Amino acid sequence: MNIRSSIDKLRESLLTNNKATKPVSETASATAGDSTTPASESNSRFSPDAVPPAWHQFEHFPEYKEYATMIWYCDSQKYPKNLFQPHLGSSDATVNIHGKEFINFSTYNYLALGQDDRVKKAAIDAVETYGVGTGSGRSITGEISLHSEFEREICEVLGAEDAVLSVGGYSTNAFTIGYLCRNQDLILYDELIHNSALTGCKMTGARRFSFPHNDYDALSKLLETHRNKFERVFILVEGVYSMDGDIPDIPKIIEIKNKYKALLMLDEAHSMGVIGPNGLGAVDYFGLDGRDVDIHYGSLSKAFGTCGGYVAGPKPLIAILKQYAPGVLLYGASPTPANSAAALEALRIMRREPERARRLQENAAYFIAKAKSNGLDTFNSHDSGVVPIMMRDSEVALWLSMRLWDAGICSYPMMYPIVPRDKTRLRFFINTNHTHEQMDSAISTIVAELKRAPKSKGLF
Ligand SMILES: Cc1ncc(COP(=O)(O)O)c(C=O)c1O
Repeated sequence: MNIRSSIDKLRESLLTNNKATKPVSETASATAGDSTTPASESNSRFSPDAVPPAWHQFEHFPEYKEYATMIWYCDSQKYPKNLFQPHLGSSDATVNIHGKEFINFSTYNYLALGQDDRVKKAAIDAVETYGVGTGSGRSITGEISLHSEFEREICEVLGAEDAVLSVGGYSTNAFTIGYLCRNQDLILYDELIHNSALTGCKMTGARRFSFPHNDYDALSKLLETHRNKFERVFILVEGVYSMDGDIPDIPKIIEIKNKYKALLMLDEAHSMGVIGPNGLGAVDYFGLDGRDVDIHYGSLSKAFGTCGGYVAGPKPLIAILKQYAPGVLLYGASPTPANSAAALEALRIMRREPERARRLQENAAYFIAKAKSNGLDTFNSHDSGVVPIMMRDSEVALWLSMRLWDAGICSYPMMYPIVPRDKTRLRFFINTNHTHEQMDSAISTIVAELKRAPKSKGLF
């Protein structure tokens, strides 16, 4: 069955019942299709009837039904299709989609370095020199000097001893955690950490506890109770939280981790290049000694404008990651010449031109002040490039994002399962190139549209 016909079928049943089904994933654990236990271990003879559709037909998977409910709802509201739409040219403060110019709040190309002429030239030169790939993993013959140049310069910025550049942002985070944490270890993570870290946690046999967002007393209590039952203890936090746009108290967390002899891993995907007087991340923002953070992690797809990830920290950490960690370097390809050169040039520009980050910070402060003075809720966002406007209802958030789309403004709703249902929001990424007029236009459109928003039927 193709997607269209299965959605039509679902739509029919929804219309017949006159309401959308409750998204199935919420109740999935009660259904046979989601079980991980074999149907019957005592009966060893195969019986086709004992295999329900939810176990072997994708359209009966609960997660597919959730997806189809959403598509049905968007279709029934005649919402324009705004996902997976190719854009023309570059994407920063504006973006051109199918020939229509949008004010863009949906890119994390924060510093507009993704299309900077110097960054592009560095990438083109690297392709001319090395070609489009390196031909093997780094430890064999896939190493090029751009890798170590980036690593040396990111260490200078972070005050770290050594670093490793790797091919993907998500994978570097997941595989670093996945490699370092073992059965006899403990991971304590802020409840809002990114999915890449959660995936890394799941790869390990370590015991894991989340603590309430930025609740340092809860973190201390967990350490007090559990520290001595485990060997290595890791604390996972972010420099800027990617949904809320707030910054945790890193000096406080360092104090706690030192007391309990734990290891701190800091995800700087949304803070490097953005926060701090020079835009150089959490170390710059708090005036930290970079050696106080045990594991610095960053993504290159945000302020660096390209693709990839890095880890920095003490020499022994980087030595074992480079030598032994599957997916960081081992068993995987090396970062491409173009990506490596782009990341290096972007880093050099970040260091030479702190005014880019400062402009972004001023823009974010302007946007938040403007939103608040118009009665909008920007939740906990401060000093970063991520600003949520809270809706707390998925239907209203979807409706508003479509009205913004019609008005030539790009901002996407963040809904369940990305955030809890009652914390649905529209997320705005602020860019160094946004103008006050563009931000004014977004806020006034939101305010005007919200006045005529239909009442939510609580469908999802
Ligand atoms: C906090 C955080 N960490 C890690 C990642 C993964 O980085 P990438 O998108 O470069 O794979 C993201 C991506 O959005 C993120 O927001």
